[in-house]
Amino acid sequence: MQNSRAFALRFGFACAFAFLLGACSTPATSAPASTPPASTPPAHSAASPVTRELPAATAWQDKRLSADQRAELLVNAMNQREKLTLVTGYFGVQQDWNHYNFKEARPQSAGFVRGVSRLGFTPQWQTDAGSGVATQREAPPALERTLLPSGILTAATWNPALAERGGKMIGSEARSSGFNVMLAGGVNLLREPGNGRNFEYGGEDPLLAGTMVGALVRGIQANRIVATVKHFALNDQETGRDRVNVLIDEAAARMSDLLAFQIAIEQGDPGSIMCSYNLVNGAYACQNDWLLNQVLKQEWGFKGYVMTDWGAQHDTVLNANHGLDQETGVAELGKYVFLDKLASAIEQKQVAQTRLDDMARRVARSLIEKGAADDPVQPGPIDFAAHALVTQAAAEDGIVLLKNQNVLPLSAKAKRIAVIGGHADVGVLTGGGSAQVYPPGGNAVPGLGPKNWPGPTVYAPSSPLSALRSELPDATITWQAGTDLAAAAAAAREAEVAVVFVTQWTTESQDFSITLPDAQDQLIEAVARANKRTVVVLETGGPVLMPWLDRVAGVLEAWYPGSRGGPAIARVLSGAVNPAGHLPVTFPRALEQLPRAKPAGEGLPNDARFEVRYDEGAAVGYRWYEKKGLDPLFSFGHGLGYTTFAHSKLAARVEASELKVTFTVRNTGKRAGQSVPQIYVSPAAGGWEAPRRLGAFGKVELAAGESRELTLTVEPRLLANYELERKAFRVAPGAYRVTLASSARDAGQSVNVTLAERLIPSK
Ligand code: BGC
Repeated sequence: MQNSRAFALRFGFACAFAFLLGACSTPATSAPASTPPASTPPAHSAASPVTRELPAATAWQDKRLSADQRAELLVNAMNQREKLTLVTGYFGVQQDWNHYNFKEARPQSAGFVRGVSRLGFTPQWQTDAGSGVATQREAPPALERTLLPSGILTAATWNPALAERGGKMIGSEARSSGFNVMLAGGVNLLREPGNGRNFEYGGEDPLLAGTMVGALVRGIQANRIVATVKHFALNDQETGRDRVNVLIDEAAARMSDLLAFQIAIEQGDPGSIMCSYNLVNGAYACQNDWLLNQVLKQEWGFKGYVMTDWGAQHDTVLNANHGLDQETGVAELGKYVFLDKLASAIEQKQVAQTRLDDMARRVARSLIEKGAADDPVQPGPIDFAAHALVTQAAAEDGIVLLKNQNVLPLSAKAKRIAVIGGHADVGVLTGGGSAQVYPPGGNAVPGLGPKNWPGPTVYAPSSPLSALRSELPDATITWQAGTDLAAAAAAAREAEVAVVFVTQWTTESQDFSITLPDAQDQLIEAVARANKRTVVVLETGGPVLMPWLDRVAGVLEAWYPGSRGGPAIARVLSGAVNPAGHLPVTFPRALEQLPRAKPAGEGLPNDARFEVRYDEGAAVGYRWYEKKGLDPLFSFGHGLGYTTFAHSKLAARVEASELKVTFTVRNTGKRAGQSVPQIYVSPAAGGWEAPRRLGAFGKVELAAGESRELTLTVEPRLLANYELERKAFRVAPGAYRVTLASSARDAGQSVNVTLAERLIPSK
């Protein structure tokens, strides 16, 4: 969304920057606000430093003190201008620098916040995003960095340890690229299959998404930098993202989108949260007292800072009083809300001085607590060879085998293979927008997609075709681009197996049809008519429709598999590795199955506000399908492999108030593989938004014939409903059914358990 992102202006900023340098008088503001701040600042807020003696400039650097104490000392040593410095961030790309000429800003970054050199406090250098160090524009030269698979692929691994390892790797590249704030940890729930940013997020289930994104955040922050969980909240579509008013019942929000955030925050402990562009129940998310002050800070006890999405600030007083701690992405004349405007709102008593102190303290605390303040980031060497192994392992773990009628693995099945389409001769697709990472080697297919942001379309130079040829040296593997249907069909007819690659580019700032673009459905039909043993490899941002499904023998969902996607796909196809991914999202059979056939607001004028009402409430994804008795194309949790697993000895018990589920998994096939046992829970008496919910999951690697006993703990909030009056999740006393299954559609096996009443207040 070009108008949501700040882009180059050729003039401006005079007063704002002069103000920072102390040369601009504070302008008079409009009349004082008629209403006082909606929420009082947290109790630990210090009195105005004006009334105190300033601590020594270096007192905060005493590492024996806690992050809270150090942040307090630091902020108390700051003058007003320095505090204001910490809470305004600028657009980071170098084209914009001529407005303000900040020499310390770093090329291709998302943003920059000045440091306080007098006190030895670091600038903040911000980079996107969840798949690696992004580049905001292709030219001048992109930063080429290791690209992890898309967030939705990472969620499809159901493997938090792997997500953490990926986070550690991209966080280390952020640090070695000179960035100390990584804008990563996207956990918006997949409510709209057409959302252009689904590839950045963790799918449709709050437990899975929250756990996987929390693990990624932990990994990133292990590098002594800050990660940012985003976009808070309910930013589940890109169409009109800066003007859509999302209406949702509060309890339903707590049990769906907000629960995903809550879990990610608990598990990842991010230093910052990014509030989103949209409105939630009538108020912009970045000036939403309920979301930011009441839920996030007071109830969940979040001690970090809230930053805006780029340019999502609107109103000095409402932003400051309703919980925003840092505005970002400032690049347009007058488009900032803090700086001199905040100073003047404080003078006018519209915003309390303690609120600015609290903002600055929160920012400082996170940078201190995570290590970035003590351990300055420095551009340095990156071990790309080692990182390639990390991204490849992640891709191999999250590619999902959706259908296999005895056609895969290829090693055992074919000596003559036709590979067709999807630029598989040169690379694999990546997702666009601010999260765009340029992989080592740059763009394998230049010239596609929009010329300006959020384009171009980038293919990572990692060819599945070449990788397949090395995996299967004895096979003859032909190549057809797929642009000529007759030639593609002829190649398929000549081969024992045809492998068709199809792609769907998606990006921030727009939503997409879930029908494959560019007549690729016709390509698949043509190939499948020529050869029944056709395998489709999808490189998509999320679910797509598959009108040809009955006519092909195999389907592999490879998502956007990252900078080593070629070998990862080839090794899954060949059988070198067992497919180990499971869907983190339901694939619909038809648009009519969805709560909304497409995201709201399409076709409205650019400035028209509109509403989307989430009447499905917390019945997102598989919960919706089950509640409505709908049979999806592929269900949440589904994923095949080249081996089989059996479950036995299922038992459930309550231990120290926690519901523990024990069972045995056995690999009943002939080769090693990974199983993803899923525990679904439901109350015997019904009364939930849907028949059942995912309550726990595991991932276990077993050799052929091996068995293992596993015990999983059910997340108690998934056994509860949120009760507004009590401000708590409440497990109703009574009988519950605990089901061990291999997807949301699998009947699996069940046991009953009786639970006592339990209240789970927000932390
Ligand atoms: C996106 C954010 C991103 C920011 C900085 C915005 O357009 O919504 O996710 O972090 O830009 O690039």
